[in-house]
Amino acid sequence: MDVDFRSRSHWLMGYGLPRATLKLLARRGDPFARLLIDSSRPENVYRLVEQIRRRGRISPVVGDGWVTADAQIVRDVLRDGRFRTAKPHDRSPVPVIQRMLAKTNPGVLNGLEPPSLLVVDPPEHERLRRLVSRAFTPRAIDALRHRIQEIAGALLDDLHANTRCDLIDEYASQIPIQVIAEMLGIPRDEIPLLFGYADPGAKMLTCTSPSWRDFRTATAALRGFEIYIAAHIERLRRRGADDSILSAVVQDTDLTENEVRMFAGLLLGAGFITTTHAFGNAVVALVAHPDQLARLQAHPDGWPNAVEEVLRYDSVFQIGVRVATETLQIDGHTVREGSAVFLLGGGANRDPAVFERPDEFDSTRANARDHIGFGSGVHVCLGAPLARLELQIGLQALFERFPRLTLAGEPTLNDSTLLHGIKRLPVNLGPAA
Ligand code: HEM
Repeated sequence: MDVDFRSRSHWLMGYGLPRATLKLLARRGDPFARLLIDSSRPENVYRLVEQIRRRGRISPVVGDGWVTADAQIVRDVLRDGRFRTAKPHDRSPVPVIQRMLAKTNPGVLNGLEPPSLLVVDPPEHERLRRLVSRAFTPRAIDALRHRIQEIAGALLDDLHANTRCDLIDEYASQIPIQVIAEMLGIPRDEIPLLFGYADPGAKMLTCTSPSWRDFRTATAALRGFEIYIAAHIERLRRRGADDSILSAVVQDTDLTENEVRMFAGLLLGAGFITTTHAFGNAVVALVAHPDQLARLQAHPDGWPNAVEEVLRYDSVFQIGVRVATETLQIDGHTVREGSAVFLLGGGANRDPAVFERPDEFDSTRANARDHIGFGSGVHVCLGAPLARLELQIGLQALFERFPRLTLAGEPTLNDSTLLHGIKRLPVNLGPAA
């Protein structure tokens, strides 16, 4: 089959048809379809989530699926061994289309397809996760504190007081990418290459139904990234054992080449796209609440809780999905074997049953840490301690250096539906302290 025809057929069956259906449902006013299609403004996201919540703790969606914004149900499903992660064939309920999807799969490294840790189920999942989890213990991450401070300090030194800049481009994305690149043994001068792959490639990982153009660009970017990462892995092999996380993975002879590439790609992607988004969301929330920012500037020991509140109030993790492996009951509803349950992370983080005045940003909120922004259960975010530290250090350093920073225009949201964050954030830095 001609490559372009194959690719186009794959997109049409796996993304194009669902996209057309969602658009139709969205036009008819279905709030879940609109959430998947039209989340280009934060107020839209939370307005739609509330419409879904009003339908009940869990409610049906088209195609034998369910959706919930209930914190307890979201947590329970993520922890329940009777659910599995979603696989590529789940894109269609029709067996013949499922077979066609497998046949036409472009076969590029994709964080949402096996062998990605994110979609591998126990017991296989445990074997893979164990290989890298040592590098992410709170103690191992605390050892990076000084290095993160150095990186943030050097980036701030390069920013000029009283000028306008895109904070995402020049600061927020730079901290996590530099940290994870060092952890993976990637030389600093190759970081611009990584951005080149990540921007278009992310469309495939974070949008439920990208357009054909986005799908094609993303596939090409992921293919380019795979060539890059294969060469990097080879370089690590030649170098022999060192202290980068990938070194242990590369030396493990039980792993297939594909699994080694998956680890590299997933850690890189998950390690900086999400944290960059959280950083942007944090700056917007803090600048909109100057009294709370002033309190943090006067009492910096409040930063860890403020970071938890940002992860709750404007969650990066908006939509997750699990599939029932047997017929079961949730809140009096029968969820049949094979049904998908869509989990609204941002909705769960604004569940009034858990958080008082959930739509208010309160950096001193006593139970802010009860959010589900890092997921739960066996797939709970591996990098959570690292993300927390980068956000605490990066935000504190930014507002200490530029205490009067203001927005210089409307932030541009990414066009992702699964992960919610900001792509461009124009700011006036104001005077340096
Ligand atoms: C604020 C930043 C971050 C957020 C909001 C976030 C969120 C999440 C969530 C919600 C999951 C679970 C997904 C699911 O159950 O389907 C997850 C998994 C994961 N995260 Fe993060 N993450 C962040 C930062 C990081 C960082 C810095 C790293 C690594 C350097 C990382 C690595 C991973 C990995 C490897 C997994 C897959 C774990 C598994 O499947 O066992 N994340 N993350």
